[in-house]
Amino acid sequence: MPETKYSIAVLISGNGSNLQALIDASHLGNYTIGLVISNKSDAYGLERARRANIATQVIDHREYANREDFDAALMAVLDAERPQLIVLAGFMRILSSAFVQHYQGLILNIHPSLLPKYPGTNTHQRAIDAGETEHGVSVHFVTEELDGGPVIAQERVPVLPQDTARELAARVAAQEHVLYPRVVTWFAAGRLVMRDQRAWLDDRLLPPSGA
Ligand code: GRF
Repeated sequence: MPETKYSIAVLISGNGSNLQALIDASHLGNYTIGLVISNKSDAYGLERARRANIATQVIDHREYANREDFDAALMAVLDAERPQLIVLAGFMRILSSAFVQHYQGLILNIHPSLLPKYPGTNTHQRAIDAGETEHGVSVHFVTEELDGGPVIAQERVPVLPQDTARELAARVAAQEHVLYPRVVTWFAAGRLVMRDQRAWLDDRLLPPSGA
């Protein structure tokens, strides 16, 4: 019998460097990327997916009257594909309650800050402006609270005195590309679950500061 790997869907809006890291890790890993969905037709990540022979789909949010209609279209595509995990990788859309509830505990997001610090956008500049000496990245389960779901794991980087937001973003991105495949691999191995709105790895509660 052919080996059946854990199948994930990755949602993107842009460059897709995290998607690339997930693709690269999937070759030796315990999961496969069955579908990449973008809300933007010019997202470079679509090109990365095509090069890796991964099915792609564009669902342009501007073609829908409201968030609920867009999310319903997204759900229809995902329900047809039946991924076992939905991985947000630079997907720049806020998901409706209906979407989040439909896939409870099955959506991961990567956010470029040490949550709960700096939810939202422009995180690197905000960390510099606040005089932080440390910054980083978090992977978390998605709940209805924006960037507020239980943190699974974090990686830290120093903020150097003369850092620009661009330089800091590059330092964080290097950590993102290691962290995200690691967490997806945990999930695909059945080691990671969301229970009672908390993240558990190997039946141990993950601390809010990450693993
Ligand atoms: C990353 O910084 C990620 O943390 C955030 O959006 C960015 C996506 O970058 N959610 P890329 O498209 O994966 O290159």
